[in-house]
Amino acid sequence: MPKASMLSIGAYAPPKILTNADLEKLVDTSDEWILKRTGIKERRIAENEVTSELGAKAAEQAILRAGIQKEQIDAIICASISPDFFCMPSTATAIAHRIGLKSGITAFDISAACTGFIYLLELAKSLVESGAKKYVLIVGAEKLSSIIDYTDRSTCVLFGDGAGAAVIGANEENEIIDVHTASDGKYGDLLITPGCGSVYPSSDPLTFEKRLNYLHMSGNEVFKIAVQTLTRDVVEIMQKNKISSEQIDLFIPHQANLRIIDAVKQRLNFTSEQCVLTVDKYGNTSSASIPMAINEAYESGKLKNGSLMLLDAFGGGFTWGSALLKFGGK
Ligand code: ACO
Repeated sequence: MPKASMLSIGAYAPPKILTNADLEKLVDTSDEWILKRTGIKERRIAENEVTSELGAKAAEQAILRAGIQKEQIDAIICASISPDFFCMPSTATAIAHRIGLKSGITAFDISAACTGFIYLLELAKSLVESGAKKYVLIVGAEKLSSIIDYTDRSTCVLFGDGAGAAVIGANEENEIIDVHTASDGKYGDLLITPGCGSVYPSSDPLTFEKRLNYLHMSGNEVFKIAVQTLTRDVVEIMQKNKISSEQIDLFIPHQANLRIIDAVKQRLNFTSEQCVLTVDKYGNTSSASIPMAINEAYESGKLKNGSLMLLDAFGGGFTWGSALLKFGGK
């Protein structure tokens, strides 16, 4: 059985910066509150680009760095909660078309909120290791500014736009060691974009009157469950694989809130050198946050061929997950 590996990473952040000072002009908030409660200083906003364009830019970079031809890719899977279109066509097919992947390949989207990239890793690993596919392109792409209510101070300060991508293929040396994904639907109402589905259809005027087409979050409840769940999940994957925190080169958590990251980091004794942080400059980019952070580590020279990474994420659903992998890129 071939072993699957992350052969490359790529990312794209749109150029427009929305600072905390800019948000002070939109809602009753302050730079001090945002920084203290979240660690976020600024986030990126895609002005004239749609989700598939962000994803396409990250994907092009990942393919180039993998050193393979586009014709060799035989599946693309995209995770997004802010896709180009509500139901269809998928953002994966749009990205495939934009970057000129060959016709006939498998292409589909998944929805696992901020845990999207961990779910993508598990799917791609299974496809490669079963022999069904040779090279799988995975993309987390978000234009969250299209589902954020910029009159709601409890959510609009948190989120930003961006994309990250990776090529998964066979590599015996630096494998994706383990991926764990999980969910619990009883918490669905705590983090939700209620409108425009079958429950609150877009045909119902109340959907827009009550602003149900935007993301809604009970932040405090999410916060408490996220810290407990992530700590337990990370401990479990390390114990299962007999790996201690000192052996991890890079701890790369989902970038939702600096306080959540610090709580997990402290409980597991990770040092600041091990922990990759991008939440200050990109905010929460949901499914794009982990690949954007991996890319940051790669471009800064911290992530090298063979580096052992621990990833973790938590998001709407609830969904959560973790992954242990050695980087297979050059
Ligand atoms: N500026 C100023 N005050 C604010 C703001 C703001 N932007 N937002 C909320 N407040 C106020 C509230 O109204 C409240 O005021 P009150 O005490 O008078 O009622 C007070 O600040 C405290 O509000 P809390 O919600 O209790 O603040 P908390 O410390 O919990 O921080 C936050 C809020 C940052 C949202 C935090 O709860 C959090 O990060 N939650 C988890 C987010 C997360 O991880 N989500 C999962 C991934 S996202 C995904 O899947 C798409």
